Amino acid sequence: MTQLHTHADGTAAPAHASEALDMFQYEWGIYQKLVRANGMHHRELGQILRRLIETRFDRPFTFLDLACGDASLARCVLKGSKVTRYDGIDLSRPALECAADVMAGVSYAVTLSEEDIHDAVLQRPQSCDIIWCGFSIHHLRRDRKREMLASLHEALKPGGIFVCAEPICRTGETRADFTKRWESELRRRFSILTDTEYAHLWNHIRTCDYPEPPEDWIAMGEQAGFSRVQELFRFPGDLFCSAFLFER
Ligand SMILES: C[S@@+](CC[C@H](N)C(=O)[O-])C[C@H]1O[C@@H](n2cnc3c(N)ncnc32)[C@H](O)[C@@H]1O
Repeated sequence: MTQLHTHADGTAAPAHASEALDMFQYEWGIYQKLVRANGMHHRELGQILRRLIETRFDRPFTFLDLACGDASLARCVLKGSKVTRYDGIDLSRPALECAADVMAGVSYAVTLSEEDIHDAVLQRPQSCDIIWCGFSIHHLRRDRKREMLASLHEALKPGGIFVCAEPICRTGETRADFTKRWESELRRRFSILTDTEYAHLWNHIRTCDYPEPPEDWIAMGEQAGFSRVQELFRFPGDLFCSAFLFER
């Protein structure tokens, strides 16, 4: 059974909700085109999440999906697992409505909530076995990332894990260096997109992305209290994105 919690009207929504809605309307189609072409390595990320579930959660568990989008990765990953509850969080109502369709008919409880990811984590102390966040924490500046990681640590039950996939940069690289390094290379890599689609995407990356070096993601996780932090997977080629595992 799926429960969809949205704000009754626009006035109750946080100020940045309209930003997320714009992101959804203008960029979701482009993002989906990339995802279908495995441009953001969802295939490998899904395999990593499945392996973690198989090796660590041979028992009932709960799964919190931050910035879930249409929840399609989680739907695949959780198939055949012992998950009892899936919570999907996103600021975009259309994304949650897609997620409700994707999750229709699953055997576990599903709750989809129109919430900011940090607020959602703060409201779920010691309640999650697995938290997954795909490509959404890098919008936060470094101090907010630290706060987010500390809140994530508190939201996990003992033995719980947090897994994320986020942009990474070289040690000492500025954001300007990062965007300069990637502008033409990314155009080549994302050749499936038209020039107009790529321009939309590039504008988002150029204005919203704050990558961190892999060693800083690890250090921030350790400072937040995680007992172990590992880089699990790095996108092939030059430094662009990695998946990290944070163990409570
Ligand atoms: C790049 S997509 C990632 C979707 C999915 N996690 C994945 O890995 O493919 C970003 C999603 O995050 C949502 N989003 C962005 N900022 C958010 C925030 N602060 N709180 C909740 N959702 C957010 C957007 O609405 C969008 O659905």
